[in-house]
Formats: sequence, structure tokens, C-alpha cells
Amino acid sequence: MQDKYPPPKLYHELALWWPLLSSPADYAEEAEFYRKTIISSCSTVPETVLELGCGGGNNASHLKKHFRMTLVDVSPDMLAVSRSLNPECEHLPGDMRTVRLERTYDAVFIHDAIMYMTTDEDLQQAIETAFLHCAPGGVALFAPDHTQETFRPSTKHGGHDGNDRGLRYLEWTRDPDPSDSTYIVDFAYLLQESDGEVRCEYDRHICGIFGREDWIRIISQVGFHAHALPFEHSELEPGSCEVFIGVRPIN
Ligand SMILES: C[S@@+](CC[C@H](N)C(=O)[O-])C[C@H]1O[C@@H](n2cnc3c(N)ncnc32)[C@H](O)[C@@H]1O
Repeated sequence: MQDKYPPPKLYHELALWWPLLSSPADYAEEAEFYRKTIISSCSTVPETVLELGCGGGNNASHLKKHFRMTLVDVSPDMLAVSRSLNPECEHLPGDMRTVRLERTYDAVFIHDAIMYMTTDEDLQQAIETAFLHCAPGGVALFAPDHTQETFRPSTKHGGHDGNDRGLRYLEWTRDPDPSDSTYIVDFAYLLQESDGEVRCEYDRHICGIFGREDWIRIISQVGFHAHALPFEHSELEPGSCEVFIGVRPIN
């Protein structure tokens, strides 16, 4: 499938740097929120979870302790990173808009990867994929970074040291045209190689942004019962972020 925007370097030629940008420990608290939400939304005790857009597998590294997980990503480089962190999980290549595994799961999870859906049509296709892979009585959980209602421009920095390499980044999030369905995240990465040399890479991520009503409409249109839920995290102000739930009717 042809994308309108070039894919971020972070998920391709820079994928091996991902674990130094974002480490599994950073995800422990939110993964626990997703675990509880999945369990409380399913009509039976969920055992199997499909994650679409698993990236480096940081959430999965926590969720796999509770569920049998299949991890799908469009980038073979990111799948390789996740495979080394989560060797016990099944990994499959696929685009969340078009992948068809011909099986269902108790839950389907799409974390921040859903932000790469930049049009109504893309978002609808990804949610349709979730529906087709969700068992009756099961749940789909969508966790976008922002909605139109909760978006705030921001500047963040972070990074980690590895054994012989290190990474620090600056992340600048803004929405130059609030009337369209995209916003921009510009990254500058400082990459310290094992010989001590440091180089700088610039990487633009074009992300999608939709209103709460659009989310609910699209999730309902594909056949789920939809609702929004406040996302609770100790580092976020209450009410500053929400996730979306689709429950697949039993009949
Ligand atoms: C920020 S990373 C996900 C990190 C993940 N939430 C974790 O817990 O480690 C975003 C991922 O979305 C993937 N992605 C972007 N567009 C996609 C698509 N159309 N289908 C599947 N994966 C996609 C990228 O390749 C990238 O690996």
C-alpha cells in the first residue's frame, strides 16, 4: 500500500536505535492500564491478544506475561527489534490497514502506531482490520497519543545509554493546520556510536489526529459497540488523554 508520507527513519534505517529511545521499563505503568482495560471489557477471560503496529514490542514485553500475543508490524526492522525482546511471541509482517490473518483473538490492541493513520479512510481500514480479527464478545483497544480535543503542542527530550552506544533526542510536536487531519512530530536524534563519535539525525513523523466523535463514529460503523475511556497515568494530568474501546457484539 502506497503511503502519502515517507516512513520515519526511526522505524527503518534507525530501528536498531529504538531500544535507546524508548525502553520497556518506560511502558510498565501504561501496559498495566491496558491489561486491566482489556480484561474488564471482554465478556470472557481473554487469553489471546493481537497487537497491530507492535513496534519494538515494549508494551508487549509486559502484556505477554498475561496473554498469548501475536505481534504485527509493517516494518521488518522493527519486527526484528521486537523479536529479540519478545522471542516467545509470534511475529508477523503486515500493514494494519490490509493484513488478514484469517483468525480471531480475544482482544486486538493498537497503541501509538494508530497515529500513523493520517486520513479517515486509513483509520477506518485499521479499525476494520481490528474488527475482523476480534472474536465475538472480545474487545479492540485503540490508544492514540492525541485527539483533536486533547492535543497540546509540546517539546520533550529523553534517551538512554546502552552498553557501548547512547542516544538522546529532542521531540517537537505541533499542529500547524488544525483544520486538517494531521500534525507533525519532528525529532532530532544525537547518536553516540561505539567509537565515541556522535552524529545527528533529523526525522519527521506525520501523524493523524481525529476528534472524539470521529473515533466513536468509525468504531461503531465497522460493527463494534464503541466508547471512550479516560487514560490514567501518573505522569499525565487527569482528563488529558483518552483511549477508545470497541466491544464486538456476541451476535
Ligand atoms: C512508536 S512505534 C510502536 C511502539 C509500540 N507501541 C511499543 O510498545 O513498543 C510505531 C510503529 O508503528 C508501525 N506502523 C506504522 N504504520 C503502520 C501500519 N500501517 N501498519 C502496521 N504498523 C505500522 C511502525 O513501523 C512502528 O514500528
